[in-house]
Amino acid sequence: MHADLRRPRAACAALLLVVAALLGSTAAHSAVPHDDAVPAYAEEQTILQAEQGTPEPGWSDAASGRRHMDRHYLIPPGTMPEQNVILQRGGNTWRTLRNGPLAWWAAALWMLVPLGLLVAWAATRPDRHAPPDSGREVLRFDGWQRAVHWATALSFLALALTGLVMLYGKKLLLPWMGHGLFSWIALAGKYVHNVVGPLFILSSVLMFATFLRHNRFCKEDWAWVRRAGGLIGEGPAPAGYFNAGEKLWFWFGVAVLGLVMSITGLILDFPYLGEVGSAVGTTRYVQQWAHGLHLLGAAFYVAATLGHIYMGTLGTPGTYRGMRHGTVDEAWARKHHRLWYEDLQTRGAAAVAPPGEAIGPRGAAPGGMHPATRPGAPR
Ligand code: HEM
Repeated sequence: MHADLRRPRAACAALLLVVAALLGSTAAHSAVPHDDAVPAYAEEQTILQAEQGTPEPGWSDAASGRRHMDRHYLIPPGTMPEQNVILQRGGNTWRTLRNGPLAWWAAALWMLVPLGLLVAWAATRPDRHAPPDSGREVLRFDGWQRAVHWATALSFLALALTGLVMLYGKKLLLPWMGHGLFSWIALAGKYVHNVVGPLFILSSVLMFATFLRHNRFCKEDWAWVRRAGGLIGEGPAPAGYFNAGEKLWFWFGVAVLGLVMSITGLILDFPYLGEVGSAVGTTRYVQQWAHGLHLLGAAFYVAATLGHIYMGTLGTPGTYRGMRHGTVDEAWARKHHRLWYEDLQTRGAAAVAPPGEAIGPRGAAPGGMHPATRPGAPR
């Protein structure tokens, strides 16, 4: 094993363990307050009392002098949303779901996934099956691709961590921090989340546009799926630039879950559009739905991201180097993306630099010869 590869690998392993420990402790304390509240019952009673036993008169009924927006999604233009809504059904139901099953299931998922990955790693020991470095490198990602990836990854990390504080902080952090410190952390986290959200959307859109052409499904992907990426049969299944697993992550993670998080996040970020007082906006009902879907989306997106991080580091040694520095070893390319590697060879673009020699002209396209990397260059 390359001595200079040991440090990043150990750092990745340590990071994964820290994340697993954090998520584990989160799950262990996920019984957030109010989980014994009875859905809808309390507010139903209050509403009936306010209506003095008569059934709800319906939206905007002149006789009631009130509006109960709980079955309505749209606001007349120019009306401040729920300006004169006194009581709303659904708030208690939302709170019970959020603090109960949603918080619990998210925590369970975030605890089980790292555990599953650890078991998968111990059972397969990918580090023992990594081919020895050839000493020749192939350019995989150019500077733009890496910049877009890291912008998305870092903004995601900021959103996930601040989201965790919002979701579990009151139960996990408040008891030992006290109100003074926790209120600062919660407030700062909320502002970071509000501001980074739109930046994450921007980088996700750029990410989608940048990597779309490599993520179109082709017939070779079926062979990869049938062989479960190489778990069935001898050696890794042949794959092109990205394999079917990576394409699934791109479409269901980056694209679908990215869209769910973006739309629901923007609804939460902007309940009112325009001047308060004359604004068009969403009802509490819409906010509650958006919030529930946001939380559900976060549960799956964070879990899938843990899998993605594992596959890019411990699960496939040599992969992280491509996203960190832009190049991968030729032996890695041949083993994990054979069709891409063969294509490079056919085009005469694969890096075949003997040790110690610089390879290729500066500015070569990804997948071609790398401009400045040579074996032994600092990583
Ligand atoms: C994709 C990564 C994201 C993750 C993992 C994530 C995660 C979370 C989590 C866990 C919560 C807390 C829910 C709760 O306490 O019940 C939350 C709340 C929130 N998120 Fe996100 N989020 C992401 C993206 C976004 C985006 C893109 C936006 C906006 C454009 C956004 C806006 C919000 C807002 C405004 C809230 C606060 C809701 C409130 O005040 O209760 N999030 N997010």
